[in-house]
Amino acid sequence: MSNVVKLALIYYSSTGTGTEIARTMAGAAEAAGAEVRVRKVAELAPQAAIDSNPLWAAHDAATADVPAPTPEDLSWADAVIFGSPTRFGNIAAQLKQFFDTLSPLWQAGGLADKVYSGFTSAGTRQGGHESTLLAMYNTIHHFGGIIVPPGYTDPVKFVDGNPYGTSHHAVWGPDLGSIDDDTRNAARHQAERVVRIARALKPKSAT
Ligand SMILES: Cc1cc2nc3c(=O)[nH]c(=O)nc-3n(C[C@H](O)[C@H](O)[C@H](O)COP(=O)(O)O)c2cc1C
Repeated sequence: MSNVVKLALIYYSSTGTGTEIARTMAGAAEAAGAEVRVRKVAELAPQAAIDSNPLWAAHDAATADVPAPTPEDLSWADAVIFGSPTRFGNIAAQLKQFFDTLSPLWQAGGLADKVYSGFTSAGTRQGGHESTLLAMYNTIHHFGGIIVPPGYTDPVKFVDGNPYGTSHHAVWGPDLGSIDDDTRNAARHQAERVVRIARALKPKSAT
């Protein structure tokens, strides 16, 4: 058994904010020595709804080559970071639908004892960043997962200010889909912390 931490980054994004956070986390986790899989949850929305929003349609096309997650990605992983935009203060249906495919693995005990963490974005400053992450973490309790929130474990957390997970205020307009340095720093810190804690919990291979 390898001592290299395996991290699955499993997220949904309509207009690209979540993709930017996931890519930032992936880079930080790889720099911290992890093996990383980035997976974007498949669309559920009808094509007409996607096409009605040019930003959504463009991001959907731009990420067509990002593989969708399967339960095997969770079996493989030592640590999982989930990401979802805020949808009425909750996670997106796309991510929830993926969660609901995991029942056989859950029944087999295959989701327990892993490290989990989460990120989100919301279109307003107080529009549900924390409630979305807490809703996501409800599911992790059922997995028997080990939730590793960032807390205020680094000075960057006093800047972005969300101890539950990285979250970005995704302002509607030309910059939608991009993130700023505050979010980038929080994302890097969260990914590094998840890798470090997963490594500490991982059984050491025989030498
Ligand atoms: C159906 C729907 C519900 C939303 N609900 C909220 C909400 O409750 N609070 C909020 O601040 N933004 C809300 N938004 C805005 C999204 O959270 C925002 O566009 C998202 O964070 C962008 O992430 P993405 O670029 O990764 O798709 C909602 C957007 C949609 C389409």
